[in-house]
Amino acid sequence: MKITFAEPGRPKDGAVCVLAVKGAKLLPSARKLDQSIDGGLTRAVEGSRFKGKRGEILEILSPGKTGLSRLLLIGLGDPKTLTERNLEEAFGGLMAKLLASGEKKLSVVLDVIGGMGVSPPSAASHIAEGLLIRSYRFDKYRTKEPQEKKPSLKEIVVHTKSPGDARKLFGTAKKVIEGLFLTRDLISEPANVVHPESFAARIKELEADGLEVEILGEKKLEKIGMRALLGVGQGSAYESHVAIMRWNGAPRGTDKQPLAFVGKGVTFDTGGISLKPGEGMEEMKWDMGGAGIVVGAMKALARRKARANVIGIVGLVENMPSSTAQRPGDVVKSLSGQTIEIINTDAEGRLVLADLLWYCQDRFKPSAMIDLATLTGAMLVTFGREEYAGYFTDDEEISDRLFKAGDKTGDKLWRLPLAAAYDRMIDTPIADMKNIGGRMAGSITAAQFLKRFTNKTPWAHIDVAGMVWALKDNKLWAKGATGYGVRLLDRFVADNYESK
Ligand code: BES
Ligand code: MN
Ligand code: ZN
Repeated sequence: MKITFAEPGRPKDGAVCVLAVKGAKLLPSARKLDQSIDGGLTRAVEGSRFKGKRGEILEILSPGKTGLSRLLLIGLGDPKTLTERNLEEAFGGLMAKLLASGEKKLSVVLDVIGGMGVSPPSAASHIAEGLLIRSYRFDKYRTKEPQEKKPSLKEIVVHTKSPGDARKLFGTAKKVIEGLFLTRDLISEPANVVHPESFAARIKELEADGLEVEILGEKKLEKIGMRALLGVGQGSAYESHVAIMRWNGAPRGTDKQPLAFVGKGVTFDTGGISLKPGEGMEEMKWDMGGAGIVVGAMKALARRKARANVIGIVGLVENMPSSTAQRPGDVVKSLSGQTIEIINTDAEGRLVLADLLWYCQDRFKPSAMIDLATLTGAMLVTFGREEYAGYFTDDEEISDRLFKAGDKTGDKLWRLPLAAAYDRMIDTPIADMKNIGGRMAGSITAAQFLKRFTNKTPWAHIDVAGMVWALKDNKLWAKGATGYGVRLLDRFVADNYESK
């Protein structure tokens, strides 16, 4: 998609989008266009139920003698409460409508809106971001799709006051979206394509973006002692891997401890010997979603040259049943030295993260570790798959920073508790702990398990199980991989860890 910014003006061809606010009040550019078609837009508003609500769209084909192919009126609701994410979602909705409509070019004419909390350049950038994010499509395996169903829209021009400022903002945002698209690609790929070996190879390619990448294979992992992680992958024909990405963007002299992101990368989760039921099991190709987010976020930070030191570590394993798979009842010794009784081989993500977290704090001494994982089905019971991911932390500062980053980007987070009573639920007489806590409080006992491997390093765990994959279209994504989390992490870094 080609996206450019231009001075305010009157586009001569293609589709043109103008704005209205609540009460179907037309903004100046919309009024001018209305006049040029003798009040045709006003009549269309009157003849429809368009009220100027946020995200509402009114469409007129081939309006008057304008030479335009379409005129679109988009509602923004009350400008006073309008957020950046609202703008993205409104225009994401517009992209969903136009992407495969046959239309080739869209011009958006942005007026300065009185009382709006978002600055004009930022509004222009976020409009472009919403359009771009929603234009993503994973269609590489559709070999027989007819031409007329394929995307047609190729070009977007956003007309705005001070286009130079908008261009600059969007230039950065676009790099982050490139990371988000990588995340969507990785998550969308089936597990016969993205498996522990090929995933590691894809991460290695990020050296081209300036990341330092280190890949650890099974031999190395055995030597290090990551037996909890290796146990999960021991039934798979693919070799387990750990990938470490380093972005050293902090200016020299300000060199400080890195921030670390840690991701669960189970490229397919059958449950292992504690096999999952067949129905819906195909969804477990996105059980590498946490790793997918971390990799996309690292790419984003590198592409936009974030002035911070950040480490990304992902554990890439496949959880398969086989004669070499680990069994319920097995006891494994984790890298930390703590022993774990495996009650259920389907509670595998925490075993992977346990060794990654320990390794991360031991080797890199990070100022904080944030892990992301599609860890528990219980998360879907709590939040559904609509808006919020749950997070856990004992650190009030990190909690506050994460919550704010979620609120600003729209990748929303809601905090859940950690407490000694939940921690006791994973005690067992056989070993230092067991890998499940019973039927109750499943997401919390999983978080308590992870906490035992943080060695008091400031830490937060984000359970993204409900947010990685959507079963229906949404304003910013089509059914499939959402890309949730990439902009959250990027913003978390930008607002809290970058030197000015
Ligand atoms: N990857 C799953 C969690 C999951 C399930 C995410 C469904 C998204 C949708 C995880 O490895 C798992 O299987 N967790 C079990 C834990 C249980 C055995 C204690 C679960 O949540 O059912
Ligand atoms: Mn599982
Ligand atoms: Zn899993």
